[in-house]
Formats: sequence, C-alpha cells, structure tokens
Amino acid sequence: MIKKQIITIAGGGSTYTPGIIQAVLNNANRLPLSEIRLYDIDPQRNEDMYLIIQYMLKKEGFTDVMISSTEDPKTAFTGCDFIFSQIRVGGMKMREKDEKIPLNHGLVGQETCGLGGFAYGMRSMGGLLEIVGYVQKYAPEAWILNYTNPESIVSEAVRRQYPKAKMINACDMTISIEETIAVNYGYDRKNWIPTYYGLNHFGWYTSIYDKKLKKDVMPEIIEKLTTKEMKVAEFNEGDKTWQEAFNMMSVITRNFPQNIPNNYLEYYLYSDMVVEKADKNYTRANMVMNGREKNTKEMAKKIRSGVTEDILNFNFGEHGQYIVDMATSLLNDERQRFMLIVPNQGAIPNLRSDAVVEVPAYIGAAGVEPISLREPINDFHKGLMEAQVAAEKLLVDAYFEGSYQKALQAFTLNQTVPNARVAKKVLDEMIEANKEYWPELV
Ligand code: NAD
Ligand code: G6P
Ligand code: MN
Repeated sequence: MIKKQIITIAGGGSTYTPGIIQAVLNNANRLPLSEIRLYDIDPQRNEDMYLIIQYMLKKEGFTDVMISSTEDPKTAFTGCDFIFSQIRVGGMKMREKDEKIPLNHGLVGQETCGLGGFAYGMRSMGGLLEIVGYVQKYAPEAWILNYTNPESIVSEAVRRQYPKAKMINACDMTISIEETIAVNYGYDRKNWIPTYYGLNHFGWYTSIYDKKLKKDVMPEIIEKLTTKEMKVAEFNEGDKTWQEAFNMMSVITRNFPQNIPNNYLEYYLYSDMVVEKADKNYTRANMVMNGREKNTKEMAKKIRSGVTEDILNFNFGEHGQYIVDMATSLLNDERQRFMLIVPNQGAIPNLRSDAVVEVPAYIGAAGVEPISLREPINDFHKGLMEAQVAAEKLLVDAYFEGSYQKALQAFTLNQTVPNARVAKKVLDEMIEANKEYWPELV
C-alpha cells in the first residue's frame, strides 16, 4: 500500500489548479491522496480556488480528502510530500507590462521569451527561491515539481542557491507539441520515444521513434509540417494564439527542415513576423485575463451563490497529467520518460556543462536520470543556444549581484534585441515598471 500523499500547490490560486487536481484525482490509484493544500499570497484567489476544488472533490466522490487554503508557509509545507509550483510573481498585470513595453519599442513582447521573459525572470527568481527556501525548512524530504516560468532562468537561480534541492523543473510544451502532431497527422503518441534537445522554449527534436511502426517518424512528420499546417488540438480549440504558434512551426520547418522545432523558436528566428502580427494594445495577458481568469472567478461566484448545475468548466490538455505522471513516476519508481530542464553536465557534449538544458530524462524513485545525447550538436543550434545561455546567465548574475551592467549585457545579448541602445531603453523602462519586484540594480 502506498502511503496517502499530501500535495501542496504553491500558487494555489492559479487558473491551472483545477486541471492539475483533476489529473491527480484521475490517477488516485497511483497517487493516493490524503490532503490538498493551496498556498498563495493572494487570499481572494486562494479562497476562490478552495471553493472550486472543494466542489470538485465532492463531485468526484473524494470526500475523505482534506482541503485547505493558507497564506502561511509553515502551515502550507510542514509534512507535505509534493509541492506543485506554479506561481506568477506580479500576476497578469505585470505580464501585460512584460508584453507591452518591448512591443512599444518594436521588439517581441512575450511571457517567457525576449525582454518580457527577462523582466519576468527578474521578478520570478525571488518568488521561487522563497518557496524553495520554505520547503528546505518545513519539508526537506518533499519533492518540488516546478512549472513556474521562465523556467530556464528560475532553474539557473535555484541551481546556484540550492544545488541540492529535491526539485524537478518541467515544461508542458513538448508534450503539447507531440499531442498536436499526433492528433493532426494520425499517430498515437503513446507509442513514441522522442529525442529532443535545447533550452526551455528553445529546442529541437532529433528523432521520434514509433514503437509500433518500428521506425523514426520524424522525417515524415517534417514532410507533413512543410506541406500542411496543423490545427490546434481539441484542448485549445479556437485559441488564436496557439493556432498562430503552430502555423509558425510550418514556417520554421520549411526553412530549416532538419528538425521539428519547438514553436517558441518563432520569437527568436522570426521576431519581425511576430511583432508585425502583435496587437500592442491587446496582448496574450489581456486574452488570459478576459478568458481563463474571468472564467475561474465565474466558477467561484456560482458556487458562492449556491447554483446546483455543474459549474466546472476548464480543459488544459496534457498540462495536469504531465506533472502528475512525474509524481507517480517518483512515488512508484515507474521510470517514465519526460523532457526535463536540468544542468547539462555532458548531456549535450559540446555545450558548456553548467548550462541549464532541456533533454529527455527518466524519473524513478531515486530522482531524475537525464540522457546523454552523445553526439555533438550542430553549429547553428549551438551558436543560438550559447548566446541564449550566456544572456540568461548574465541576467541571473544581475539578480544575485544587483548589477545594472550585467542586466544591460543580458538585455543586449538577448536574441530578440538588435542593438544596445534599444536594450537600454527597455531595461530602464522595465526597472521603473518593476520597482516593487526587482532587486535594486546599481
Ligand atoms: P496565475 O496568475 O493565474 O496564478 C499564479 C498564482 O500565483 C496567483 O494566484 C498568485 O497570487 C500566486 N503567487 C504569485 N506570487 C506568489 C508567491 N510569491 N508565492 C505564492 N503564490 C504566489 O498564473 P498562471 O497563468 O496560472 O501561471 C502560473 C505559473 O505557471 C506562471 O509562472 C506560468 O508561466 C507557469 N506555467 C508554466 C507552464 C509550463 O509548462 N512550465 C505551463 C503553464 C503555466
Ligand atoms: C505553455 C508553455 C508555458 C506557458 C503557457 C502560456 O503551456 O509551456 O510555459 O506559460 O503555455 O499559456 P497562456 O495560456 O498563459 O498564454
Ligand atoms: Mn513552458
């Protein structure tokens, strides 16, 4: 019998929480549960989510599972087994600034890529380090499974301050790409063993071995991508942003047909197209605030007003299942394969060993076992990655050292930025906009 687990969600008020809890409940045989704790710094959001999850537990018949919400870290973490981390320091209001400030200077404005991603990184490092610190203090045996963005930057920060933390950093994008490809072109993703390398939101597939078909299907998928664009899979139906992102995968593949790219490469390779298409006054943050966020508030409101019809209304595709699979793989030594964000240490042999990379890795009872790719990567990918790694490392230096000069170097080196003059302008505006959140830079 597996011991019943206590799961704490850091960023409990996140709009992704219902999807994650639903996946936890769907896997109760592999991840038995005694308690869910929602930890957040915003009591209103946490209370809304408490009502939604309480409703879900009742509806699904999990009446013996305890649920609580708290803003107190000691209560949240003491004795817990898993922490699923998904905080957003500064909330959607600051995401909106991350997107709009660079766009006003003609640069990519995005949550995790370009200068918006760097601005978010400077906010997010402190918030996530604080959570890792609490876990070291109150639940040192627990595993932290982290989704908090921007993943490359926060992983680098945690690696420096808490090198021994029991923490796994993962992104749902590769699994979402695989699902979208499989649904569009008629494959069963469950038969796949994909190989991929890169940085987070910055990588390439090198093969997709299909166990049933007994061959690498990547070449035929590339052929399909170049001739027929994908439609967003059901979980994102009608979502314009994702449709455009997947269309861009076809553009990238037509020009660079050796690999299947991560769609996020559009921000680096085709920044001009991305900027042209963007609406400076209505960005992704506005869509999410008017969509997911509004919808979550609506659900809580309905519960408060006592409506009896089914109020649950969400669908996040593979996002919840992916993090739950990591937890069950740890707990039951399942040795499932994931794409994880880990210190390189030779996995990509010709890239600096202290880079934080995204590569295939197995998870079992002993933790993460990344795969070494053995083959050196080509100069095109290596050059792009080296510049990006250096920029990210400079940003993390800027955070720990409080260095304006390092921040300016990071902003200048970012692959979406054409010159140091615009880098400085955006940096100075970001410092002003992030006064409450960034460390002082001198
Ligand atoms: P959200 O704003 O809806 O939720 C985040 C929650 O975190 C909010 O309730 C907020 O109050 C809380 N929070 C902020 N700072 C905190 C702190 N210091 N301590 C505790 N709680 C804090 O955001 P979201 O859209 O649900 O996204 C949450 C995070 O997950 C973001 O970082 C996002 O980029 C990331 N994300 C990652 C992936 C991935 O694949 N890696 C996928 C989806 C979302
Ligand atoms: C994917 C990425 C995440 C990112 C999210 C944004 O899931 O892997 O890293 O945070 O998309 O989605 P949103 O709907 O908030 O724009
Ligand atoms: Mn991601």
